[in-house]
Amino acid sequence: MIIAGVAAATQVGAATSSTDHPALPPGPGRDTLLRVCSACHDPDIVAHQSLDAQGWKDTVNTMADRGATATDAELGQITDYLIKSFSPQPPPDPAPLGGQKK
Ligand code: HEC
Repeated sequence: MIIAGVAAATQVGAATSSTDHPALPPGPGRDTLLRVCSACHDPDIVAHQSLDAQGWKDTVNTMADRGATATDAELGQITDYLIKSFSPQPPPDPAPLGGQKK
């Protein structure tokens, strides 16, 4: 399922590369982000940031204050997408107390 999804997304990305944004991974909310956040600047700039949930909420609120046109639901989708796609990843495996694994 996941592998098939990635493969399909890669092919769709290749097929539509002229309008696609490879820096933005596929996921729910991506289309909304492209529509809402392209109005003033390249939406790819979000990929330059890595923020936690609060950081993205603040960023999206700031953009809404600046004039991003979207419903609250759309802003929520965009925020969720950004949190999923561009957050600092927690270490997958907390370092065990006795030292590092080889
Ligand atoms: C009404 C215009 C407008 C819209 C729409 C807009 N932005 Fe922005 N955005 C700006 C401006 C202006 C800047 C540059 C701000 C600066 O230099 O501090 C910016 C900068 C940014 C930055 C870089 C912030 C930084 O600290 O360098 C991010 C990330 C960002 N926008 C995300 C978004 C997202 C996500 C959306 C969609 C929800 C969005 N923007 C929609 C005007 C907009």
